[in-house]
Amino acid sequence: MTNTHPNLRLVDHPLIQHKLSYIRDRTTPTRDFRRLLSEIAALMTYEVCRELKTILDHVETPLERTAVQRLAGPITLVPVLRAGLGMTRGVLDLLPDARVGHIGIRRDESTALPIGYYTKLPQNVSAGPVILVDPMLATGGSCAHALKLLREAGCEDLRVICLVAAPEGVQRLAKDHPNVRIYAAALDRELDENKYIRPGLGDAGDRCYGTG
Ligand code: PRP
Ligand code: URA
Repeated sequence: MTNTHPNLRLVDHPLIQHKLSYIRDRTTPTRDFRRLLSEIAALMTYEVCRELKTILDHVETPLERTAVQRLAGPITLVPVLRAGLGMTRGVLDLLPDARVGHIGIRRDESTALPIGYYTKLPQNVSAGPVILVDPMLATGGSCAHALKLLREAGCEDLRVICLVAAPEGVQRLAKDHPNVRIYAAALDRELDENKYIRPGLGDAGDRCYGTG
């Protein structure tokens, strides 16, 4: 699908698309789903970091003193529970110094509205960039809620990584959080009557934790 959303960056690297093909497959077992979720998160982190600020530093090589660039920190990773937790390991593989905050949100099954149940963020979370991770951006309600909590904590430098986005979710974030860039591996067709993404990959939390 063509991307006509200015707030969405589709990361269509062949390796990510290859892994996404298995994660969409209903026959992929929980063990492989978890591994793939983490691997795709790592690959997407590589792309997200392209736009993070760096600061000038100096080191002594074995031969001489030289200027180097280092990522400006502190970087905070915030997974949305539960499914976002499955992306944490992959992001931390590339950003081992990142702090990790947690935001717990579940969708009400009948209304599909987000219900927040847990928030724990580093004290000075707003001191550096924040990367919010959740594999599914469906109505966008959960992500918009998490971004609102982060804004209330003073965060301005915010990015979202998801695997599969629906047009409705992307539009919702464009309206509520226009300055936040979304990185997604795929922009899917639509939401169905139960607000599930089609074609999607099903219930990410259930597939990640074997609770379906
Ligand atoms: C899923 C998913 C997102 C949310 C997306 O979580 O991980 O957080 O739904 O839907 P939305 O964009 O319409 O808000 P869910 O509520 O199923 O909770 P879980 O991860 O604990 O299973
Ligand atoms: N949450 C999921 O896990 N999957 C969807 O398709 C929509 C919301």
